[in-house]
Amino acid sequence: MDAVTLLTTTRSVRRKLDLDRPVSKAVLEDCLRIAQQAPAAGSLLTAQRWVVVLDPAVRQEIAAITREGAEESWRKYAHLVSPRMATSARYLVEHLDQVPALVLPCMPGPVPTGTAELSAYYGSIYPAIWSFQLALRTHGLASSLCSYHLGGREADVARILGIPDDVAQIGLLAVAYSTQREFSPAARPDVAEILSFDGWARH
Ligand SMILES: Cc1cc2nc3c(=O)[nH]c(=O)nc-3n(C[C@H](O)[C@H](O)[C@H](O)COP(=O)(O)O)c2cc1C
Repeated sequence: MDAVTLLTTTRSVRRKLDLDRPVSKAVLEDCLRIAQQAPAAGSLLTAQRWVVVLDPAVRQEIAAITREGAEESWRKYAHLVSPRMATSARYLVEHLDQVPALVLPCMPGPVPTGTAELSAYYGSIYPAIWSFQLALRTHGLASSLCSYHLGGREADVARILGIPDDVAQIGLLAVAYSTQREFSPAARPDVAEILSFDGWARH
């Protein structure tokens, strides 16, 4: 797959995840090795840690916590997303315990305050998260962020996984082989609506 196709057709996949096909440690390690080439702030180049949950019993516990967080999140924010996306998100949350791999990227805590610090902090993990998602795609896998436990239930997940108190969880990725091979570019704003040269433009 060429780079433009990979970049424009890698989607958040929730309903087309193969819940019956296991994901090997080797393929996840390979994708993470690729993701480690992503940029990060110099001081945070080696800061990230990743926890992968393959154990079905542990997945079930994390899925239950995610479900609670998701219900709370949907009560607050469901009106902001399309009905199609809401249905898709609900499907994933309802099946999360069956998703073969749950992946939690982590960073040293606490999460900083201040625009520059926050920018460097999240900017030093999200490029790797996206690279990881792209790398998964090259192996026929798909993923979606499903981070609802971050709304106050991080400690519950940390306790289950033995994540130390001074480590911050950045997200939770549901990872599985995809039952769909072909994806299309999504609807996004036209570049002309979001770009201006040599100064801010009112569109
Ligand atoms: C920071 C971030 C957080 C996200 N959190 C969730 C989430 O909690 N649940 C979910 O279903 N999707 C989540 N997503 C996926 C977005 O919903 C998805 O990227 C968006 O709908 C666009 O769809 P696409 O990725 O298929 O282009 C998240 C994405 C990002 C970048």
